[in-house]
Amino acid sequence: MLAPDGRVIMISGANRGIGLAVAKTLYDAGFNLSLGARDPDSLAEVTGGWAPERVLTGRYDAEDFETHRQWVAATVERFGRLDGLVNNAGIAEDVSVEDENDEVLDRMWAVNVKAPLSMTRTALPHLRRCGAGRIINMASLAGKAVYSDGIGYSMTKFAAVALSHATRHAGWDDGVRCTALCPGYVATDMTTDVETMAFDQMIEPDDIAEVVLTLLALSNKASIAELVVNCRADVLY
Ligand SMILES: NC(=O)c1ccc[n+]([C@@H]2O[C@H](COP(=O)([O-])OP(=O)(O)OC[C@H]3O[C@@H](n4cnc5c(N)ncnc54)[C@H](OP(=O)(O)O)[C@@H]3O)[C@@H](O)[C@H]2O)c1
Repeated sequence: MLAPDGRVIMISGANRGIGLAVAKTLYDAGFNLSLGARDPDSLAEVTGGWAPERVLTGRYDAEDFETHRQWVAATVERFGRLDGLVNNAGIAEDVSVEDENDEVLDRMWAVNVKAPLSMTRTALPHLRRCGAGRIINMASLAGKAVYSDGIGYSMTKFAAVALSHATRHAGWDDGVRCTALCPGYVATDMTTDVETMAFDQMIEPDDIAEVVLTLLALSNKASIAELVVNCRADVLY
């Protein structure tokens, strides 16, 4: 297993929800972290009390690729290396088959697919250099199965799974491993309005964080390409 010591991990959308849980768990495990958020000030509460030499915060606006370049550059300048990227930030909005709501659909493509692709492109040269780079894309069970006609989010998460496989192929020879992490419902702000499942029956963000910790510990010879996490007896898995 790979030890956390000295390894530098970037996490987008680290200010709340799953990203926040991942940040706390990885920090406690000993990783150095570069946390990205639309409003970096929103990370102050997270990092208060943390050793300043182990953490950097940066602006990550999914739809502004220049923030991606600046955040990655600042991370490498500060730590001198990059070992992992957790493409976590995402949005879920309603677009069904018969909606013609292209504005919302375009926004989901931008945040859930094009931004992780941009971050992957920007980070990949640095991840290749370390010989055991890791990318974890926070996809979704909605990227593996379609449960209703509300397909906008699902389309983008299927694409995030495709991106993960393509990234795995692209980086493999240089030791970069990529996982599409596909949880069912997780109890965060994103799911407070869900009516088909009780909030307290959903996956805890901390449990997803433990899964991320395990993925980061696996050697180059034990890569998990896709990982589905269930909180109920879902149709497909
Ligand atoms: N919750 C679930 O049931 C579930 C299940 C499977 C997969 N996921 C995926 O897990 C990831 C995290 O979800 P979550 O449940 O933690 O959601 P959340 O609590 O709503 O948090 C979403 C995060 O994404 C950030 N974000 C949204 N739009 C952004 C943008 N345009 N630019 C930069 N950051 C942006 C948010 O930042 P702000 O605070 O600035 O808005 C926030 O940090 C998402 O990719 C989601 O699709 C969630």
